[in-house]
Amino acid sequence: YAGSPAPTGSIGFTGVPANVVPMTDGITVPAGYTARVLIAWGDAIGKTGPEANTHWDPATEMTAARQLTTWGAHNDGMHLFPFPGNGAGNLANDRGLLVSNHEYVDPAQFVNITTPYTGITMTKAIVDAQVAGHGVSVVEVRKVNGEMKVQRPSAFARRITGATPCKLSGPAAGHALVKTAADPSGTTVLGTLNNCANGYTPWGTYLTCEENFNGYFGSTAAKLAAQPLTAHENRYGLAAAGFGYRWHEADARFDFRDNPNEPNRFGWVVEIDPWNPNSVPVKRTALGRFKHESAETVVGADNKVAVYMGDDERNDYVYKFVCAKKLDTKNRAANRDLLDAGTLYVAKFNADGTGTWLPLVWGQNGLTPENGFADQGEVLIKTRQAADRLGATMMDRPEWITHHPVTREIYLTLTNNNRRGTTPASSNKADGTTVAASARPPVDAANPRRDNRYGHIIRWTENGNDVAATGFQWDIFVECGDKLNANAHLQGNIIGDDLGAPDGLWFDKDGRLWIQTDQVGNATGDFANIGGNAMFCADPASRRITRFLTSPRNCEVTGITTTPDGKTMFINIQHPGEDWTGSFTANSTWPDSGFNGPTTQSGKAVVKPRSATVVITKDDGGVIGS
Ligand code: FEO
Ligand code: CA
Ligand code: CA
Ligand code: CA
Repeated sequence: YAGSPAPTGSIGFTGVPANVVPMTDGITVPAGYTARVLIAWGDAIGKTGPEANTHWDPATEMTAARQLTTWGAHNDGMHLFPFPGNGAGNLANDRGLLVSNHEYVDPAQFVNITTPYTGITMTKAIVDAQVAGHGVSVVEVRKVNGEMKVQRPSAFARRITGATPCKLSGPAAGHALVKTAADPSGTTVLGTLNNCANGYTPWGTYLTCEENFNGYFGSTAAKLAAQPLTAHENRYGLAAAGFGYRWHEADARFDFRDNPNEPNRFGWVVEIDPWNPNSVPVKRTALGRFKHESAETVVGADNKVAVYMGDDERNDYVYKFVCAKKLDTKNRAANRDLLDAGTLYVAKFNADGTGTWLPLVWGQNGLTPENGFADQGEVLIKTRQAADRLGATMMDRPEWITHHPVTREIYLTLTNNNRRGTTPASSNKADGTTVAASARPPVDAANPRRDNRYGHIIRWTENGNDVAATGFQWDIFVECGDKLNANAHLQGNIIGDDLGAPDGLWFDKDGRLWIQTDQVGNATGDFANIGGNAMFCADPASRRITRFLTSPRNCEVTGITTTPDGKTMFINIQHPGEDWTGSFTANSTWPDSGFNGPTTQSGKAVVKPRSATVVITKDDGGVIGS
């Protein structure tokens, strides 16, 4: 298998240099392009009423009330839904709904303190503000005098947060394991959290993926001594201190000993109808529960529908959900609950370049009561354990998935893994813990590097190009690396510009493959030569990779979407200046420095860097990348 013959749009720009030390604290794009800030954390989303143009002042504490009318924290996956219009497909290129995830928060940035967050007294108000910083924003964007801007006010403007009522649907809705004291029916969850990558459906809805939800929950040492972590809690990474948010200290909902089923209500794909500001987000349990990254919907020639998803954890899995019913291209309403019924599969990559989709169906392959699966609801709530039992292939942290617009070939980023093969324990530096060599899987054909600190991109085609097929053909598109690294194991095989930690991945309408990276972002250590995080454009036919954009200091480049004509691109810059132990502003003052155009806070003293969405245009009005 050498990949499908994939049509690629022309790639006509001259790449930009890597952002190495001393780093530029801003976005650079090729000559002939402009990158301009659209909206940043705390800027008004334009809700109708008096708050339409009221922006947060970053010198003050962020409150829940202010966050409910403003752009959330740490924007991540994103999609533009065009209005009807006069362009191709009767879609507008000058008006749309921009829907963005807000993955997580940096707590100290909210409370505006100089003392360490670990030492403050937690209050419900502090928790509520951070909860409100998560979730999803919907803003209307319009081109005014040739420039894309947020429309304020707009009846579509909306915030969905970690406290917005969401409906649980599908086989796990109402299950004993999702019932709580506050919701004895097990059907209504407050909010969505850690909304990382995303997807969208051909019927015009947005899919937001709940990734590291475990980090928000905690408990006390005394409660855990009385009732230790269960195997199920361990498999999903619950821990007494969580990721240090301390929410459980002021809100019992986040204490997983007080409310042991509350974590089971997170880790889902959530479907949102952005066109109805009053719609209730729906957690689609049929798609499984794990640390969801990406939900890439692919429609077959026969209108069968599949959704491809990764579980971003070292040595976890890749999944596919095939809808029981076909897409109805004539009647939007008929697709409303398409994601509630179908078959969830997990991938096995064989050494001979073939692959198998293994069904996660109750009663089959040992997914039975004797093995701890009482029903399909339990198979889904414990998706990871079900996949463990089936012998799926453990991957090097699956992140984004995208498909070629013509061939339907699937591409997946595997961002890195330091817990495979005979990696020395001292290399397990991500969270400071070590893993016994015996607990690490060996390398395999699909994950061939033992110390995979730069990651790779894998791709496959379904047998018969049928999205519902149970077999596929795969190969590795590229092993990322640093050609100047003294260790041959780490040099990779990139043709063109080196990169590491691929994460965001997206095909444009012409078949250009865009790759975004998420590494430490300060251009030191393993990334001294590669530079800070960046966005690259790849030609799937020649495999050549060219750097298109570099980013501010200590940020991640993520989220990508364009207008239907491909001439206006939106990307997200997440957590500029990030430093959980020191001063963010010492690292970055973007975007209010004005490096990429004026912001709502320009002209004031810059008190903190802010995650923001950026619009990229070509100065001659052409297609981005061409
Ligand atoms: Fe939130 Fe796996 O990136
Ligand atoms: Ca990601
Ligand atoms: Ca990542
Ligand atoms: Ca991130």
